Amino acid sequence: MAGPVLVHTRADLAKAREGLPGPVAVVMTMGALHEGHAELIRRARSSAGAVIVTIFLNPLQFGPNEDLAKYPRTLDDDMTLCVREGVDLVFAPGPDVVYRDGDPGVRVSAGRLGDVLEGASRPGHFDGVLTVVAKLLHLTRPDQALFGQKDAQQLLLIRRMVRDLDFDCEVVAVPTVREPDGLAMSSRNTYLTPFDREVALCLPRALQAGAAVAGEGASAVRRAAREVLVREPLCLVDYLVLVHPDTLEDVPEWYRGDALLAVAGRIGRTRLIDNLPLVVGRPPSDHGGAAR
Ligand code: PAJ
Repeated sequence: MAGPVLVHTRADLAKAREGLPGPVAVVMTMGALHEGHAELIRRARSSAGAVIVTIFLNPLQFGPNEDLAKYPRTLDDDMTLCVREGVDLVFAPGPDVVYRDGDPGVRVSAGRLGDVLEGASRPGHFDGVLTVVAKLLHLTRPDQALFGQKDAQQLLLIRRMVRDLDFDCEVVAVPTVREPDGLAMSSRNTYLTPFDREVALCLPRALQAGAAVAGEGASAVRRAAREVLVREPLCLVDYLVLVHPDTLEDVPEWYRGDALLAVAGRIGRTRLIDNLPLVVGRPPSDHGGAAR
């Protein structure tokens, strides 16, 4: 099987991009590829004429005390996965290729939506994400870009950027891929000891507990999810929220409709996030009629 073309420079990318049959889809990653990334690639292949994968560990989205230095770098294994999944072109630039003059003075601002949840814990994170996504969209010129629901706030902000700044590209969301026991796949799961990994299961279990009572309303969802987390003191919860999927604001108790149950927690030295889209509150016809 012919593998993907691997390029590291802007010039080689531009040349290789020329020959690709459309429509072209891009899957942007920071490497350490796993089945979650593979699913994005498969979805891309199912509708596109060619698939570009970018592998770039973006320093701009890491805070000074975060895990940039120890983030797993596995380009050989990543290429094996890209061969297996039939990727056409892999763009794996170094920081000096992406940021030619060092840290860019001009950046994309995520605005207010970038300051809450993940943004509250990671100041500047989403400006760094949006800046690199904007650059990679310009460099790869895709018709379609696929992102995981796993990073719900990132997905929302990328949708907003594409709309607000008129990028000519369709953003496609892909549901979260999980391990058989429910843990959301993440490049950061490799940091977990077997013991920590067991502890981490409280995150998907809390989300499931909330989802199980979604029909009973927002308070029931929050209570059920919280009860799971308080039973796991080794997970230091950063936030557990039930928010509107477009505004990321807490939904009120009476709310009915689409919501996002999202959680972030630290297990040992590893910070993990997870979320589940839910429909909260029973439809009016389920409420037992006028007698009540
Ligand atoms: P990374 O964490 O490598 O993720 C790349 C893409 O894979 C993102 O769209 C992410 O949401 C998706 N993804 C990760 N785990 C997933 C899972 N378990 N199920 C489904 N999709 C999953 O997210 C980034 O990189 C960066 O911020 C990036 C967008 C590349 C910008 O640097």
